[in-house]
Amino acid sequence: MRVAMIGTGYVGLVSGTCFSDFGHEVTCIDKDAAKIERLKAGEMPIFEPGLDDLVRRNAAAGRLQFDTDLTHAVREAEVVFIAVGTPSRRGDGHADLSYVHAAAREIARAADGFTVVVTKSTVPVGTGTDLEHIIREEAPNADIAVVSNPEFLREGAAIEDFKRPDRIVIGTGDERAQHVMAALYRPLSLNAAPLMFTERNTAELIKYASNAFLAMKITFINEIADLCEKVGGDVQEVARGIGLDRRIGPKFLHAGPGYGGSCFPKDTLALMRTAQEAGTPLRLIETVTTVNDSRKAAMGRRVLDALEVPARGATVGVLGLTFKPNTDDMRDSPAIHIVQSLLDRGVRVRAYDPAGMEEAKKVLPDGIDYASSPYDCADAADCLVIVTEWDAFRALDLDRLKTLLKSPIVVDLRNIYPPEDLIERGFKYVGVGRGN
Ligand code: UGA
Repeated sequence: MRVAMIGTGYVGLVSGTCFSDFGHEVTCIDKDAAKIERLKAGEMPIFEPGLDDLVRRNAAAGRLQFDTDLTHAVREAEVVFIAVGTPSRRGDGHADLSYVHAAAREIARAADGFTVVVTKSTVPVGTGTDLEHIIREEAPNADIAVVSNPEFLREGAAIEDFKRPDRIVIGTGDERAQHVMAALYRPLSLNAAPLMFTERNTAELIKYASNAFLAMKITFINEIADLCEKVGGDVQEVARGIGLDRRIGPKFLHAGPGYGGSCFPKDTLALMRTAQEAGTPLRLIETVTTVNDSRKAAMGRRVLDALEVPARGATVGVLGLTFKPNTDDMRDSPAIHIVQSLLDRGVRVRAYDPAGMEEAKKVLPDGIDYASSPYDCADAADCLVIVTEWDAFRALDLDRLKTLLKSPIVVDLRNIYPPEDLIERGFKYVGVGRGN
């Protein structure tokens, strides 16, 4: 099948590349000419393990192409995906749909023959209907069906998530579109991924409800972690104990410094706005966002409290800056709040991240000393903080760290170390929700 993918951000580039890997003919389109040139040269605009190989392989096989203009690709395509950004609109928190609308207008003008236009971007309920109106306005005779097919991939595990999804949600009442979408996803049926056909508004809601639920699950376990610290108890064990109940499930119960990233904060906010305007506020999700925001703000305090020297003039080594491992993404990372509150108190910050240092330099305040390795980060520091659970931090030589640190204090905001390993070596250890 011929596919046009509008937008080469995370979702567009990963989905387009994976579709081409299944044998479809895919053209990825982006208005950013420099980005398209880099992609043609095999350079990735995002950090995603395994993506560069997959892009190069499929581009070399001629199944994956890149272009700045959508006209040709859309004219030829049976399926056109809209995978452009839907950032939070400044002021009201709604998803900004201007890129989605602009793409729909361009597609309407270029489409030829029956074309399925699919929203892959995260868009609020009702967007599919709006796009139908826009398209009809722009090209009254175009034969187009608008489908919602939200994406559930995670940064850092995007290829695996795309190829082995828990489900594929397809929202449309149009029978022809259903056939086209079933044919497009047929290669995934080998991986036993259930194709769920539903109504379009429902599909749009499923995406937001999934992210809101996951954000709530994380926030729940974070609050249980706080309780463990006060009354005694180990949140890791509580998570394991409740997660064994299949009605709850073991995933997304890892307590930490609060969720970040480009999706949960933005999508919970947009869903809240939709619900408020509909007169049915989602009070649970409103509380989740408030609790998570204050948690991220409070994590710096936890580090300051662990220090055994005055904050002003102390040095803290920060290990991990990105919002999670296996990405260079700094968006809404807890590290931003932690670093800021340390700097506000006159602490000198040394920081290290395996992939996020370039992005970090763009968003963190000036005056941070960037280290060349985890050991360099710990060198002469009064405390070491683990903010992101990169695998590379799990097996650090603890004895070497102890020799390097001025004071052997570790604040482990991701619980990557067994406390006893550090305590028996003479470290002071502060974890999350480890109240025993
Ligand atoms: C999230 C969803 O997991 C994807 O299903 C969805 O497709 C994506 O948003 C999106 O809407 O595009 P992502 O933001 O890449 O994916 O990252 P997650 O792995 O979900 O992590 C989000 C945040 O939650 C991170 O800050 C992570 O550290 C935190 N988290 C996650 C926890 O604190 N504890 C956990 O148990 C899990």
